[in-house]
Amino acid sequence: MEKAKVAGTTPQMQQLEEGETYAWCACGNSANQPWCNGVHAGSVFAPTVFQADEAKTVAMCMCKQTKNPPYCDGSHMSLS
Ligand code: FES
Repeated sequence: MEKAKVAGTTPQMQQLEEGETYAWCACGNSANQPWCNGVHAGSVFAPTVFQADEAKTVAMCMCKQTKNPPYCDGSHMSLS
């Protein structure tokens, strides 16, 4: 399977607003990290779209290798 581009090697903290819908970039190519800007079009990747159930600060995955998208699961620590 095609691997996503590593957009960053540390997670990015983001403040989510309750009820807002977000689209996390899964391909790693967006210029608006960690969010999708549509440049995945034509690739095997699609953003992870989710709605925040409450206002909270979260660690968004930037290396794009997380097993728990869109959140950081520590996978950036074992990048080769
Ligand atoms: Fe990366 Fe949309 S730009 S998933």
